[in-house]
Amino acid sequence: MGFAIETDGLTKVYGELKALDGVSLKIPEGDCFGLLGPNGAGKTTLIRILTTLIRPTSGTARLNSFDVVGDSSEVRQKIGVVPQAMTSDLDLTGYEIMDIYARFYEMSKNERRGRIDELLEMVGLKDRAKDLVATYSGGMRRRLEIARGLVHKPSILILDEPTIGLDPQSRHVVWDLLGNFRKQDRLTILLTTHYMEEAESLCDHVAIIDYGKIVALDTVEGLKKQIPKKDVVELTVAGVDLEEASKWASTVDTVTSVAVKDDRLIVSTDNGANAIPALVEGIKKTGGHLSRVLLKQQTLEDVFIHFTGRPIREEEAKKVSYLLGAGVPTKWGR
Ligand SMILES: Nc1ncnc2c1ncn2[C@@H]1O[C@H](COP(=O)(O)OP(=O)(O)OP(=O)(O)O)[C@@H](O)[C@H]1O
Ligand SMILES: [Mg+2]
Repeated sequence: MGFAIETDGLTKVYGELKALDGVSLKIPEGDCFGLLGPNGAGKTTLIRILTTLIRPTSGTARLNSFDVVGDSSEVRQKIGVVPQAMTSDLDLTGYEIMDIYARFYEMSKNERRGRIDELLEMVGLKDRAKDLVATYSGGMRRRLEIARGLVHKPSILILDEPTIGLDPQSRHVVWDLLGNFRKQDRLTILLTTHYMEEAESLCDHVAIIDYGKIVALDTVEGLKKQIPKKDVVELTVAGVDLEEASKWASTVDTVTSVAVKDDRLIVSTDNGANAIPALVEGIKKTGGHLSRVLLKQQTLEDVFIHFTGRPIREEEAKKVSYLLGAGVPTKWGR
């Protein structure tokens, strides 16, 4: 199997700032690849290079073996793009927007009609096709933009923060959609996101990017394995000496450490599901009473903190992204 996207030492410099710093990636065909990083990490810069909007300062990028600089028109045929900010024209209807894009790709009238109907149906906008986009909700607009990105049957779909600013329900609708398109069209998907949940539920592979560099790259499970202390089990206990209990609990198989906090034992373990029965049994034996057991499994958020030293702040991300999303203000130059 070939690679849909290959970058080698990709670097973009703005004055003193290295927005991208030697990014080398290989994304297999059919993969859903997530790029996770905080504000200013370089996600949009990478996307803009891959979608031929800006040129790298150094390094190379190939999509389906076409070079983003040397073969930019071939690259544009192969990719569908959903930019960070909403870019669908409010004064047009959903159908008109789809039709204009299809014409850009020189699709025939018959081809256009069939494909547009099919896509609008899939994104649940068939009934609203003749309404102005101004009357759409944010979620509907996003769905239209995903359909728009797919009109010419690209083999690679590139989305920059596809669900930023959407309510949780619309976000789930978008996830389902992407999953369906992937199955039907055997698409390769590259997306950037601030949302751990998004990367976790959609992506086969995730790269964490920080200060223009890839700091970790693996499957979601693989990333989780790379950081120590996998699960935390919290047991709320009465009727036993907790200090005593913490001593034997630390001898239970897979347990790596135990702390006492108020009326709780906080148990770190390599395998929460395995440790729980032994912990519960042990507390019963010593005559303790258990009122609550909580298993906190490791999330991608933990992985992110491990690699970057800070959490992703989603709300802050949202505000900044609205400002920057439509592209870089022209006074900054390209
Ligand atoms: N045209 C430009 N001129 C100067 N600096 C730029 C330009 N474009 C981007 N930058 C800087 O490059 C860095 C990376 O920006 P980029 O937009 O790629 O980040 P991002 O990961 O997409 O962030 P966000 O999550 O906020 O969308 C930032 O420090 C940004 O200010
Ligand atoms: Mg961005």
